[in-house]
Amino acid sequence: MLDAVSKGFFHLLARSRTLRKLASRHGMATPRSVARRFIAGEEIDEALATCRAIQARGMLVTLDHLGESVTTLAEADTASRDYLQLMDRMAAAGIERNISIKLTQLGLDVDLGIAVDNVRRVLEAARRLDFFVRIDMESSAFVQRTLDVFDTIWQQEYRNAGVALQAMLRRSEKDLDHLIALRARVRLIKGAYREPGSVAYPNKGDVDRAYSRMLRRLLLEGNYPAIATHDPAMIAEARHVAAEHGIARDRFEFQMLYGIRRDIQAALLADGYRLRIYVPYGREWFPYFMRRLGERPANALFVARSVLAER
Ligand code: FDA
Repeated sequence: MLDAVSKGFFHLLARSRTLRKLASRHGMATPRSVARRFIAGEEIDEALATCRAIQARGMLVTLDHLGESVTTLAEADTASRDYLQLMDRMAAAGIERNISIKLTQLGLDVDLGIAVDNVRRVLEAARRLDFFVRIDMESSAFVQRTLDVFDTIWQQEYRNAGVALQAMLRRSEKDLDHLIALRARVRLIKGAYREPGSVAYPNKGDVDRAYSRMLRRLLLEGNYPAIATHDPAMIAEARHVAAEHGIARDRFEFQMLYGIRRDIQAALLADGYRLRIYVPYGREWFPYFMRRLGERPANALFVARSVLAER
């Protein structure tokens, strides 16, 4: 109950344009220590330094230039140019060539055709520089459009892209059939958005059972799947399925978010698994930060304590 109320509250804040603007204007200084636990910084140089440190510890990275739900084509254009610049900077800095993008950042909710053009622009540069581009999955209102865009680019032979699927959505197992048939690379996640019961399982047990069915299918039939979770039970299950079926450790990877469950990250590395850290950075950090707070009520208490301590 507390979980649902807390998730709802933070999702409401995440959607507030006023708070987003205020947060971007005032920067991560308030409350500095807390946002920085989840976000690598506001500037590209901070993000590159974070990636370098993660790589030095033997982990893989994917870099996300934070931003979503743009409302004008000019913003979408800027976001795609920012990604082109980011890829150049990553390549020059010797960072692993892997980025994560959100389609509403590239104009999905403004003009579908322009969003496809922007994605193609990013994928063209990615192809030239040998980058892999993961398309994040956003709230259920965007799932069909995101998968349609993915189908379009797949038909146009862009094979340097993959997409995320949310186990919490009732439709996702069907979507998984389709993506497995394409041989597309899937990142499996539970889902971070607040959704109505008509489209998503309201109960965590059902989400976990769906996640577990989907991870099994991906490991057995998928193409280099990414098992993206911090849930020790799901991780143990993936390890078990892989061991049971003799699936080598280079045929899949685990993924986790920057700043979350470093203990499990270290354990997976020590056991020789591939682990990619999703590193977000940028001035548009507010909605991402709110989703992380909503995932765990304890985070909200942590923020409250830090704010009081800063006074
Ligand atoms: P679960 O919520 O059951 O948490 C398991 C444990 O992890 C918790 O008990 C706690 O210890 C720890 N934990 C989880 N969240 C935490 C937090 N915020 N702070 C501290 N500890 C926490 N979502 C989405 O909708 N679209 C997307 O594209 C992506 N992309 C993505 C990429 C990667 C690499 C990851 C790991 C996750 C995403 N997500 C996402 C987020 C995902 O949908 C989900 O909300 C979070 O991963 C939390 O779910 P878990 O699977 O970790 O399980």
